[in-house]
Amino acid sequence: MEDREGSRKRKRAGRCRRKTDNNPSHLNKQISEAHPANVPQPKQDSSKLKTSHKASKTLSFLDKMKARLAGGHFRMLNEKLYTCTGKEALEYFKEEPELFDMYHAGYQEQMSHWPELPVNIIIKWLKDHGSSLVVADFGCGDARLAKNVKNKVFSFDLVSNDPSVVACDMSNTSLDSESIDVAVFCLSLMGTNFSSYLQEAYRVLKPGGWLLIAEVKSRFDPTSGGADPNNFTKAICELGFSSVSKDFANKMFILFYFKKKVSFFKGCTLDSYIDFVCR
Ligand SMILES: C[S@@+](CC[C@H](N)C(=O)[O-])C[C@H]1O[C@@H](n2cnc3c(N)ncnc32)[C@H](O)[C@@H]1O
Repeated sequence: MEDREGSRKRKRAGRCRRKTDNNPSHLNKQISEAHPANVPQPKQDSSKLKTSHKASKTLSFLDKMKARLAGGHFRMLNEKLYTCTGKEALEYFKEEPELFDMYHAGYQEQMSHWPELPVNIIIKWLKDHGSSLVVADFGCGDARLAKNVKNKVFSFDLVSNDPSVVACDMSNTSLDSESIDVAVFCLSLMGTNFSSYLQEAYRVLKPGGWLLIAEVKSRFDPTSGGADPNNFTKAICELGFSSVSKDFANKMFILFYFKKKVSFFKGCTLDSYIDFVCR
């Protein structure tokens, strides 16, 4: 059973149709078919099940209903973010910012079941690669990344609940071109126009800069309608990146590491080119 508010929000979410504008078809095809709700949950061991069964007995009927409703709202909002454009999502949360908090409460709940969080792997990667690298965190959520490294981090999301986070559609950030060393998308390639987020990352990255993408593994399982990770990699390379490595070690997510290609002749005059060749 669902309250009237819940059903009103569900209907509003349903109004949003899948759009593929601005989306290079080859890239769109690679991962957009994977269903966002198809996020696997780790299997619980039976002892945990017994404990949670005992705990659930102590929950009141009302608490259980509230938890079920919260889970339903999270799934509805998650589905919405995957089936509309970034611009539409921005407008949606502008109208009702409390839905963003609802989404993140549900997201945190889901992540509490994951054995490892991708953002923690990225934090470790940054610590290993040096604090002088300037980072852009696209779809930063609660800005956990910025809070856990010494690097300068520009954090972007649809809603800002923290002064360090810039609220915007990340296909159009305020960053200068070629000003960033590392662009991060941690579970945030959600909109139907997600290729425009990658194009924005390409714009702001310095030549040779890193592009780090963490995505849910189920989106890359061709046996259940997901994309082929190799085709996805190929499509990203066509945007001007080269693939450095892929990390499949985790149960819940895949990590892709790319570098922006260095264009030798961009902005190069004939004189400077001759100078370069003859040096
Ligand atoms: C699944 S959460 C991941 C949050 C964070 N990166 C982490 O790993 O904890 C995805 C985030 O991307 C944000 N997002 C999705 N589309 C966006 C867009 N077009 N512009 C800015 N943020 C966006 C969502 O609002 C959400 O906070």
